[in-house]
Amino acid sequence: MGILVIKGFRSHIIKVAVIVLSGVVTASATVAADGFGPVKAPKVNAKKAALGKRLFFDQRLSGDAAISCATCHVPSKGFSDGLALSKAYPGSDGFRNTPTLINAAQKAAWFHDGRIGTNLNDVTRESITETYNMNMDMRLMQERVKQDPVYVKMFKDAGYGEPSNGSIRKAIPEYLKTLTSRGAAFDNGKMSDAAKRGFELFKGKAGCASCHSGNRFTDDQPHNTAVPNNPEIWKNPLRHVTYVTFGLFLGIENIMNIRRDVGAHIRTHKADGSDIGKFMTPTLRELKQTAPYMHNGMIKTLKDVVEFYNNGGGNDANKDPRIKPLDLSKEEQSNLVVFLESLSGKPLTGSQHVWNDKIDVNYKPIKDWLKQRN
Ligand code: HEC
Ligand code: HEC
Repeated sequence: MGILVIKGFRSHIIKVAVIVLSGVVTASATVAADGFGPVKAPKVNAKKAALGKRLFFDQRLSGDAAISCATCHVPSKGFSDGLALSKAYPGSDGFRNTPTLINAAQKAAWFHDGRIGTNLNDVTRESITETYNMNMDMRLMQERVKQDPVYVKMFKDAGYGEPSNGSIRKAIPEYLKTLTSRGAAFDNGKMSDAAKRGFELFKGKAGCASCHSGNRFTDDQPHNTAVPNNPEIWKNPLRHVTYVTFGLFLGIENIMNIRRDVGAHIRTHKADGSDIGKFMTPTLRELKQTAPYMHNGMIKTLKDVVEFYNNGGGNDANKDPRIKPLDLSKEEQSNLVVFLESLSGKPLTGSQHVWNDKIDVNYKPIKDWLKQRN
């Protein structure tokens, strides 16, 4: 048994003693005294990630080749899209806000309702095949990709062999792992005094840290903060029909009559309805790039978000008891906003994260592509 000391490199990180049991070193990432620190970049295979990057920006991954992942996850907008409710496959329209993909590789459960709790491979499959998302058949996608000589080479170089839908679903997550926050004032010790005061409120009087905990500022759990429903989903027939399709597929009870997004209820279908209106706590990193906010884009600015919490959130029978009026002064509220802004870093818009070359879709298919094994 021994004692290991991790040296702090930022003002609020202090030296932490980590006990090493039976000679096994248990310390992994930097541990801050308050549980907050920089997001650690995962190890990435560069060739697989480069392939994933091209796939992410390639419209041929959608059924009618009209949209790519990057249509909705736009790099200059923190890999969200600036819209309250997302777009969708032509002929449908979205009913949720597009979340950032920065640090998404580190999550434990994905989508606003947390309905996928396995891995990014499954999230990628769902994003590609879901009718209202990219509406792509995996077999068709594989045939398309394997005709393209650029892909044939890239798959080979990445060690995958012939293009296959299985390796597409591995390469895209490898690319997503490259999207890690960096350069935030919070991480490099450049927080203003107002931001520091906001951080103290965040952990103390305002009670934000009980849900927004850890390096990504989320507990990866669903909670009910009673954000009002977005009426657009029921006013706009395309959005409504898309939500109903989703609800029927996931077995939401009484879907034809309800006028709300049930959130995490679809995971549990609890008879008492106590999970209705719970949504996953989102990360608070890169918020400067990702307005508007919440699962349905109902809150436009960070100032409005803080005001929402200060007023005790919205109205809902299932609201979490921690969401209650906070009695923060105007100055305290503005400190909180400045603190939230200090969690945003450099946009990931360089060539490491963006596929800038034109994707040539008028290529000459490889010879004998029909005969290629996958
Ligand atoms: C039409 C717009 C659109 C397209 C295209 C799209 N997404 Fe998304 N993405 C969304 C929306 C909206 C959500 C949230 C959905 C929900 O909560 O039900 C989401 C959620 C995600 C998440 C989960 C993030 C989180 O924090 O839980 C990942 C990962 C993701 N998308 C990756 C991809 C990938 C990879 C592609 C391409 C294969 C893709 N998306 C294509 C709109 C889109
Ligand atoms: C009970 C847990 C809980 C507490 C306490 C809490 N939040 Fe949240 N927060 C959430 C959940 C859940 C959401 C997502 C709600 C939704 O999508 O409808 C959220 C959303 C947000 C968002 C929007 C992020 C985005 O990308 O859409 C911000 C900003 C935010 N919270 C800041 C704060 C601040 C500041 C405080 C303290 C004043 C706070 N939160 C307290 C659970 C909590």
